[in-house]
Order: sequence, then structure tokens, then C-alpha cells
Amino acid sequence: MAQLWGGRFTKETDQLVYNFNASISFDQKFYKQDIEGSKAHVIMLAKQGILTEEEKNIIIDGLEGILRDVETGIIQISSKYEDIHSFVEATLIERIGEPGKKLHTGRSRNDQVALDMKLYTRLEVLYMDELVKELLEILLKIMEDNTDTFMPGFTHLQKAQPITLAHHMGAYFEMFKRDRLRLKDIYQRMNYCPLGSGALAGTTYPLDRDYSAQLLGFTGPTLNSMDSVSDRDYIIEFLSAMSTIMMHLSRFSEEIIIWNSNEYQFVELDDAYSTGSSIMPQKKNPDIAELVRGKTGRVYGALMSVLTIMKGLPLAYNKDMQEDKELTFDAIDTVKGCLLLFTGMLRTMKFNKAIMAKSAMNGFTNATDAADYLVNHGVAFRDAHSIVGQLVLYCLEKNITLEDMTLEEYKTINPVFDETIYEAISLESCVNKRLTIGAPSKKAMNQVILKHKEYLNKD
Ligand code: ARG
Repeated sequence: MAQLWGGRFTKETDQLVYNFNASISFDQKFYKQDIEGSKAHVIMLAKQGILTEEEKNIIIDGLEGILRDVETGIIQISSKYEDIHSFVEATLIERIGEPGKKLHTGRSRNDQVALDMKLYTRLEVLYMDELVKELLEILLKIMEDNTDTFMPGFTHLQKAQPITLAHHMGAYFEMFKRDRLRLKDIYQRMNYCPLGSGALAGTTYPLDRDYSAQLLGFTGPTLNSMDSVSDRDYIIEFLSAMSTIMMHLSRFSEEIIIWNSNEYQFVELDDAYSTGSSIMPQKKNPDIAELVRGKTGRVYGALMSVLTIMKGLPLAYNKDMQEDKELTFDAIDTVKGCLLLFTGMLRTMKFNKAIMAKSAMNGFTNATDAADYLVNHGVAFRDAHSIVGQLVLYCLEKNITLEDMTLEEYKTINPVFDETIYEAISLESCVNKRLTIGAPSKKAMNQVILKHKEYLNKD
């Protein structure tokens, strides 16, 4: 047991209490941020004349030495310390003696941990954004290659109207683009520096908080010291954004699982991204997609946990907040892993275009277009809807499609039909006559693809 706060105590901490309280097993993850924050603090203290230049230089050298030695494995972060802050400070004092004891001047572990977590999370928001961007790039590539790849669009998982693969992928492009916007937004809102807030009420030292904020790349200092040490909103926002990313990945995974099934066969997963069965030799399972879908629950769980931890906490710092870390770290690692694997799976996946087009032809996905055809020939939409309903019934009885019907058969049901019906209900027309922006026609898709390209180039 190595603690920073023994002075007031007459008894040793019970070992079980110590273990229960300690956070080093997980907060060692931000040793780099802890040292980075300490360096900025010391540079600021020296600028304000609270430390001498010489003291500052010795401390900075000491901190940099610790960083180097941790990274090269010369020293191990030992669990005999309560948390990462204690480890760094105690090691510093061990190595440089007296000046090391001045590091914590005008600082509390409460503003220190608030800073470390923010620095760590801030970086992860950027990594996450890069991974989502890579996924968007793959999606855009699939879109560009597939503006002519017809497939059925679904509602209620029933074939509804024909679309293209480009259009379907475009829906996911929108979702993941919004995810990036959310991350950007979170970054901007969280980017204020809590350092200098002390335990809760600031400090009597003449700290220059603007300066430390600037040294650490923040927009500025936070403006209320009590909120600074007890704000975990940005963690909740990040967990919420990550939950939304996972929800999108999970929906996409679900579709890939369906498309990969024997019944659909719309896609073929690359051997490197699927797994076999130990008993059934014919199997090629979409385990990656299933795991992504499953892990979504874990990330939602982290969000619910942190929300619940924070609920009802009085101001300012409470030890409950230490619980944010394992949950957040786990969620970050999970989402990053899922994004990476999902992107790889998508990049290597093959689309069975012929099967997709054939599927779009069966199932009356052109029924709406047949109704629109009648409307264009002067029939009211409600009547047209009913006439096409009769057509569908007729086809179902004879086990044929609308394309298979002869003109005589059409005319028997309604005389308005002429030979132009076949062109009107072809897959090609059904898709490419939908010209409004956001619709699946090649023309509309190309306009959207252009916008997406511009967006990815500048952001
Ligand atoms: N390990 C603590 C946390 O993660 C650091 C802050 C400790 N502060 C305190 N007053 N006990 O929240």
C-alpha cells in the first residue's frame, strides 16, 4: 500500500478496503495523459513564480524520464499504488527528491482525474471519428460501383419497391455521417480544461488557468470549479454517440446476416471474415456480424450504467465517479474493434448482383409503378390501387409476375392498359424514374455521391 494521504490517519487501511478503493488496475491506462497534465501544471506554476525555473526543469525531466521508462518497460506501473496519480507522484519523489514534492501544489486529484479522463477521451473521440470515416469511404466506393445494381427495397422485411445497392448503402452513409457530426460536436463541447479547479473550490495560488488550458490544447478553462471536478456529461454524451454507432452497425449486421442466409444469398462473406462449424461442413457463418450485433448490448449497458452512477450525486466530487472509467474504456475498445472488423468485412464482401436483381423482379416490387401508370392514364390513384391489387391476385393465382401477363390479360382486368405497361413496370424504369434528390435513380444517386465526395474531402 502506498498512499498520498497517510498524515491524518493513525491506523493502516484494511487491505480489503484498500483493494476496493484502488483504481490503478484500470486508470493506469492514462499514464501518458497524467504526465502530460502534470507537465503543463508545472510549466504554469513556474510562469506564475510559484515554482522556480530550476525546480520546473528538474520536475519536467523527472516526469519525462518516468514516461520513457514506463514506455520502454524499465519500470512497471505497480499495483502497490492506489491510482495512477499516486504512482507518478511517488515515483517522481523517489527519483528527484524534494522538488518532486512540489508537483501537486495548487492541485487536487479531483481536478487531476477530471483532466486525465478528458485528455484520454478527447483523443479517443478523434480515433473513433477516423474509424467511422474509413467506413464511410468503403460505403461510398460501394455506392459508386453499384448505381445500376438492382435489388428489392423492404418495409416490414417484405419486398416493397425496387432500389439499387448504391441507394441502400447510401442510407448507411447518412447514419454514419451523422455519427461523425455527433463526435465533432461532443469534442467541441467537452474541450474545456478543468485543471486548476482544485478539490472543488479552486485554489489560493495565483494559477493562470487560461495558460494551462492553452498548453493542453483546450479552447479555454472551465468556468465553475465545482462543475469541473464533477462533470461527466461528456462521457455520457460519448457513450451515447457510441451507442448510436453500435445501433447503426447492429442494424447493418442484421441485414448482412439475412443477406448471407441460404434463402437470400445476396452476399458472400470473404473466407477471412467468416467462420465454419465444427460439425456441419457446409456452414459459413457470419460470426463477425453477429458479434457486432451482440456487443451493441454491452455498449448500451455502459451508457445506462454511467447515467445511473451519476444520477443523484450531490456536488461536487464523489468517489462513485471512479466507476466511469472501466465502463468507458470497455465501450471505447469495443466500438473501435467493431468498427475495424465491420469495415474489413464490408470491404471484402461480394454482392451477388444477379440474385439481387432477380429478387427485385419477384414479389411485385413494381406494383406501385403499375398503379402510377394507371394514374398517368387518367385513373384516380385509389382506383388504380385497387385495380393493381386485382392484378396481383391474378398473378398469385397463376404463379406468374406482372411482367409475365399478356396484354390481353391486362386488358381483361382493365382496358386502360396498352403495350407501354411493360416498359413502365420494368426494373430499370421503376428505379430510374425516381429522380427527386434522395431517390434511387442513377441520376439522383450520382448527385448525392458527388456531395459525399466533397464532404469526405473536406472533413
Ligand atoms: N481514482 C479517483 C477517480 O477515478 C481519483 C480521484 C480521487 N480523489 C479523491 N478525492 N479520492 O475518481
